[in-house]
Amino acid sequence: MAEYKLEVTTGNMTNASTFDHIHVTVIGTGGESERTELDNYGADFKTGTTGTYIIKSSLSLGKLLLVKVEKDPFLFLPENEWYLSKIVVTTPEGEAVLFPCYRWISRGELVELRGGRALKGFEEDHPLLIDHRKKELILKRRFYHGIELKLKGLYGSTEKWESIEDMKKIFWQKKTTMSEYVAEHWKEDDFYGSQFLNAVNPNVIKRCSELPPNFPVTEEMVKPFLEEGSSLQEEMKKGNIFLYDQKKMDGIPPRAYNGEPLHVTAGLCLLYSNPENKLMPIAIQLHQQPSAENPIFVPSDPETDWLLAKMFIKNADFMDHQAVQHLMKTHFLAEVYTLSALRSFSVVHPLYKLLFPHFRYTLYINTRSRTTLLGPDGALSISSLGFDGMTELMRRALSETTYSSLCLPENITARGLESIPNFYYRDDGLKLWNIINSFVQAVVEYYYPSDSEVRKDTELQEWISEIFTHGFLGNKASGCPASFQTVKEVIKFITMVIFTVTAQHAAVNNGQFDYCSWIPNASLLLRNPPPTTKGQSSMKTILETLPNVGETSSFRAQGWILTEKYTDMVPMGTYPEERFDEPAPKQMIKEFQAELSYFSETIVARNLQLELPYTYLNPTQIENSITI
Ligand code: FE2
Repeated sequence: MAEYKLEVTTGNMTNASTFDHIHVTVIGTGGESERTELDNYGADFKTGTTGTYIIKSSLSLGKLLLVKVEKDPFLFLPENEWYLSKIVVTTPEGEAVLFPCYRWISRGELVELRGGRALKGFEEDHPLLIDHRKKELILKRRFYHGIELKLKGLYGSTEKWESIEDMKKIFWQKKTTMSEYVAEHWKEDDFYGSQFLNAVNPNVIKRCSELPPNFPVTEEMVKPFLEEGSSLQEEMKKGNIFLYDQKKMDGIPPRAYNGEPLHVTAGLCLLYSNPENKLMPIAIQLHQQPSAENPIFVPSDPETDWLLAKMFIKNADFMDHQAVQHLMKTHFLAEVYTLSALRSFSVVHPLYKLLFPHFRYTLYINTRSRTTLLGPDGALSISSLGFDGMTELMRRALSETTYSSLCLPENITARGLESIPNFYYRDDGLKLWNIINSFVQAVVEYYYPSDSEVRKDTELQEWISEIFTHGFLGNKASGCPASFQTVKEVIKFITMVIFTVTAQHAAVNNGQFDYCSWIPNASLLLRNPPPTTKGQSSMKTILETLPNVGETSSFRAQGWILTEKYTDMVPMGTYPEERFDEPAPKQMIKEFQAELSYFSETIVARNLQLELPYTYLNPTQIENSITI
């Protein structure tokens, strides 16, 4: 008689426990154990506990293949689901095999757990497992059907603000050191410029070596703002001039407001990295076509003219930030990677085990945000563009999204931002990219010793093919691979996926309250048309242009919700669920964690030297997946 020891761990979340009868059968290459009820003295399967049970078999089961788990009603008690974390089976020969589950089990459900080493499909050598895997994938595809980038389905007072001071009254309900700083400094040009580097949208400016023909800035206009004796031509040559061109917004119809269409500008903003290493806005044109009614504003214009020009640039920028950089490029692309993985990989596949923890809660938050953030009263729907305009903006942005722009090193080079000073998003982001890349390389090379292993892995090929077709809409010009030929390609793509759902999402998400809760600094809605001449505006114009009291409160509430963290937040690089059984990937995870923790210390030390610390890419502040 052979005895198998089972250690059964119930999840530690609320209501994870069950009173129901649990039967288990262990299946190996030598046969099946007796179907055995797991029943010790006292209550079994209590939240957060591990129970030990013995299962007998008349003969040795050989190599362990599956553990079958059945849950049957106890008396007439109502259904209660059970969260089974894992079962570790120790054989009579002393070998311990991990069978991860990490899911809820309902009554009458037949759950078969796969254990042991991670395996690619073609490595399965037992007919039972080949069959099991085939059925698993059919079921998964049926369950997670209808994958597409769902771009569709995506308070009350109407009084205007009497003064900026009044606005502060609602502001103080919740604040951070940074949000207070923003409320004090939002009008200052150097702070305005710094936000294109280290605030929530560090994704848009480019080095400018030649002015676009539709932005006729002259030497005379900007000379006073450049280093004495220098010229625009000279500064462009030196690489000190940068451009934010918002042409993507051009022609998108804004929503109606009190029966009239709102105004969204497709502006151009020229910036200068000055000898003090500060990035200063030096010229703004609010529409693409130059004309007499489309003046170029400069910092020496009347204060409120210049402020309004900066506010309109920021308004378009904030809509781009939310719709494109935040929702589309992190949340919605993550959803594509997630759904494709759920449909394409067996749970025992090594890349599923690697990726799955980085997809936690993403489908949930995206489903929820389609009804809240994007719903009729959500912040994005009451923006100047409104729901239809935001959707159109995402559609335009998706058609020009390239794979290389999602890879930070290429993104920084393409925008010519390798050497602009005080760009902490770039410094920290590139470091994180490399740390993730080393980890992914170790894991992928361990499971794929050669390119031919990549080519014959049908589950992996299915995954990338679905992403290409449904995420990048089959657009070859995007540069997204439709299939993988080499180990190198797989490493790069998975690095990009993990970087996107951890670091990139943190960079565009975590500063929203800091930078956008002071509405004058970044408003999704501006109610008045942009200025067409100089010298006509006043502080009254600014207050009439800003959202009214009710709208401001609504925007702030959304910003608040979007930066609250869950109490069970999982920081980047931590893997509370044990999915890998073999020592090699476990060791790689440890090294990854050590790298992240060392990097976190260097960020903390660096930030002590800064007036405005950049914290969003500190690994302790980054989540392991997109959950909010
Ligand atoms: Fe988010």
